[in-house]
Amino acid sequence: MRPLLIATKNAHKTAEIAAMLGVEWEVTDLNAYPEIPASEETGETFADNAAIKALAASRLFGGLVLADDSGLEVDALGGAPGVRSARYAGPSATDADNRAKLLRELGSFRGKERAARFRCVLVLAEDGDQRAIFDGAVEGVIIGAERGEGGFGYDALFVPEGHDETFAQLPASIKNTLSHRARAMEKARGFFISAAASGRDAV
Ligand code: IMP
Repeated sequence: MRPLLIATKNAHKTAEIAAMLGVEWEVTDLNAYPEIPASEETGETFADNAAIKALAASRLFGGLVLADDSGLEVDALGGAPGVRSARYAGPSATDADNRAKLLRELGSFRGKERAARFRCVLVLAEDGDQRAIFDGAVEGVIIGAERGEGGFGYDALFVPEGHDETFAQLPASIKNTLSHRARAMEKARGFFISAAASGRDAV
């Protein structure tokens, strides 16, 4: 099995990425390495923050590191919460606090005015160097009340285009084929496959 450290303490992200990569990979995250601190997300873009997290962890971990920076962009809110998705309702906000704030902010918007997308940027790093960057997005709408128990973050409020159920209602196996993270991971998998085929030792 090929080891891969995900530079996150968010076990939901890790579980989704592990499921997408399959049994060939031994996926762990920062919960297994308390000596590697989680980085502060001081960047202004998903790419900046993913690079900050991947590079910092890869200086302390001998092997491939992948960092995910992701979030929700709502058109009616000028792209908010965006890179601040995890701390939308404040520095120590829970996912439930963030969903409640989003519903309040969108209170006067209807139908297509509630268009939104999830974005994900993944940075792959090794020994303090950035090896590759991948991105993915999924379009959808924010509904008026939470539906479903699965997933995390804003999943219970987001219905992806072409579906009637939220990410929290859809089975994980479906979310993991059409989400922003799935689309970025599809590019990462292609990179791993072509790197292995060309014999490059970084991957
Ligand atoms: P960060 O990447 O650690 O800055 O946090 C990303 C935040 O965006 C999460 O805490 C969630 O609020 C939100 N988010 C990212 N991906 C998802 C997803 O797949 N479902 C629901 N919310 C997500």
